[in-house]
Amino acid sequence: MCGIFGYINYLVERDRKFILDTLLNGLSRLEYRGYDSAGLAVDGDKKNVVCAFKEVGKVAKLKELIEESKPDLTKTFESHAGISHTRWATHGTPSRLNCHPHRSDVNWEFSIVHNGIITNYKELKALLETKGFRFETETDTECIAKLTKYLYDQQPDIDFTVLAKAVVKELEGAFGLLIKSVHFPHEVIAARKGSPLVIGVRTSRKMKVDFVDVEYSEDGALPAEQASQNVAMKKSATGLLAPPDKSLLHRSQSRAFLSDDGVPQPAEFFLSSDPSAIVEHTKKVLYLEDDDIAHIHEGQLNIHRLTKDDGTSNVRAIQTIELELQEIMKGKFDHFMQKEIFEQPESVVNTMRGRLDVANKQVTLGGLRQYISTIRRCRRIIFVACGTSYHSCMAVRGVFEELTEIPISVELASDFLDRQAPVFRDDTCVFVSQSGETADSLMALRYCLERGALTVGVVNVVGSSISLLTHCGVHINAGPEIGVASTKAYTSQFVAMVMFALSLSEDRASKQKRREEIMEGLAKISEQFREILKLNDPIKQMCAKFFKNQKSLLLLGRGGQFPTALEGALKIKEISYLHCEAVMSGELKHGVLALVDENLPIIMILTRDNIFTKSLNAYQQVIARGGRPIVICNYDDPEFSSAQTEKIEVPKTVDCLQGLLNVIPLQLISYWLAVGEGLNVDFPRNLAKSVTVE
Ligand code: UD1
Ligand code: BG6
Repeated sequence: MCGIFGYINYLVERDRKFILDTLLNGLSRLEYRGYDSAGLAVDGDKKNVVCAFKEVGKVAKLKELIEESKPDLTKTFESHAGISHTRWATHGTPSRLNCHPHRSDVNWEFSIVHNGIITNYKELKALLETKGFRFETETDTECIAKLTKYLYDQQPDIDFTVLAKAVVKELEGAFGLLIKSVHFPHEVIAARKGSPLVIGVRTSRKMKVDFVDVEYSEDGALPAEQASQNVAMKKSATGLLAPPDKSLLHRSQSRAFLSDDGVPQPAEFFLSSDPSAIVEHTKKVLYLEDDDIAHIHEGQLNIHRLTKDDGTSNVRAIQTIELELQEIMKGKFDHFMQKEIFEQPESVVNTMRGRLDVANKQVTLGGLRQYISTIRRCRRIIFVACGTSYHSCMAVRGVFEELTEIPISVELASDFLDRQAPVFRDDTCVFVSQSGETADSLMALRYCLERGALTVGVVNVVGSSISLLTHCGVHINAGPEIGVASTKAYTSQFVAMVMFALSLSEDRASKQKRREEIMEGLAKISEQFREILKLNDPIKQMCAKFFKNQKSLLLLGRGGQFPTALEGALKIKEISYLHCEAVMSGELKHGVLALVDENLPIIMILTRDNIFTKSLNAYQQVIARGGRPIVICNYDDPEFSSAQTEKIEVPKTVDCLQGLLNVIPLQLISYWLAVGEGLNVDFPRNLAKSVTVE
């Protein structure tokens, strides 16, 4: 779970300062993916010498280290390849030694940065040790560097791609990796299997075409015409439950980087685990697919695969991404999390844009249209997710059950896999993930694909693994979420899934009135978010007054508000490190009530719904034990009119949407609790944004 960034310039003169700044800047954009150590490798002053810097801590520390070592920043390079990495330790503690890039030998003949886990590294290490290699780190990655050198030494006239293919063939597990070598100056190999890698391209001239052909081991790439014929054939033959045919996303041939006379042009390439580190340099990006091996050399980009008939497309599109740099910067906010909380009035609108038509009482999810009637006929819908995304599934379970009358289950991906839960061809499995890369969710997706179920993704990151592997899905369009604690992705997932339930129930006459009520509720949500965000200052003060120096906090909710309590408790735990437990109010009397006294801080969600009187029972039970809960309730609720009651008042909406509003004060509470403790909100200890390990 790490961030990779690479920069290659070809016939574009750059000084070392520019190259180092570009790499360091790229790493700082990726810090949310891992931030316990960072490193980079660039060319040294002399030919065939690599200059590597590695440091424990954040990217700023690496920058300091580089400044202290005073490299010649004015040295210029007409062509150059630099690679860098920010780490979140899995194999071996954060240390200079364990941090990437890793090297094949003391001369850095091969330098490697890697994201993911090589599961057979012990076997490879044992083998390479018998060949005389001495390992210096505790990482799994080092074996890739040593293996590359071992294979190169067998055949020193080997081509870089042939070598990379031979290396990749030996690796088991997950990886996104970059290889730089003194034997192949100014070139980089980028390979992916299970970990995302994006390549940004910047050229001064317009690219001739916006595609790159895929080349195969056996007999090279198919001609363009044949490739498009294949696409057409696949299209007509594809049944709805056949493996997803993403080739339909692609168009025709490449030759993007050559001039009219076939000569390579000056070009710069930016490689990254995430487009957010690329957009400030170029909007032209290409997403590598699993098992792709990209070779960047002499201003060209070639994509290779080991086998031809693996069902993937023959071309990779160079797409234009519409991400603006300002979208990934903090702007006027102190933290990304704060910015993202305050972005919610816009992000939910973006989720609904072009999809919800309140005037005509219609919901259209383009990505599901073709599949909606199949889903209606399924025997059950299984939602699978982790963390916050799991809570958003819990939050919409009720509305799915009510509108579709299809049995619904909600599963934590890890537990679902542990149980090897039964899945059948007539199941619809929905994978909800902000990043679209979470290893547990991804493995559960593969498990369901193997069993022939229809798979649907609800993801934020376009081009992510879950988005690519599912049959169909919905992009929630919340924009990049950088803060580790997920906020706007939660509300956008919630809204996207409510729209999914509305689409599924479109054919049910008996549900029309209710559907319209929900659509009208959705149309007002953004404005109501704005109102709630005005509570920012009072909530900040409330946190200082009631929660300072507390050891524990209870959050009570019932029905649709139990998932809200779960999500609020997770937010508080993950960034303020205060123990916080979500309790289903109906369960209070069965045990947790023993904890309640006049000292324990309690927050109770008591907005009005059809089980309000039952929720009030729990409130009375708490009051009777001397508890003084803070209440989240609707405006001017007579039940809580006493001046003694501490309350956070929120607007009222349709019951099944109320959780969208109620979660926002909890997000703000978690934020201000963490800030009050002087904690780094965007980088909570032990956690990372994108958990690509099991
Ligand atoms: C798409 C375009 C959007 C454009 C709109 C116009 C993309 C990413 N979106 O949005 O820019 O404005 O058409 O009609 O190009 N998918 C999955 N799994 C997932 C998520 C999505 O397979 O987890 C698939 C969908 O089935 C669909 C495609 O990806 O085929 C795009 O999904 P989505 O962005 O949600 O579709 P639209 O809202 O139609
Ligand atoms: C991690 C994050 O654990 O993954 C959580 O720290 C997140 O915030 C969880 O909810 C699931 O991530 P995703 O990307 O699958 O929604």
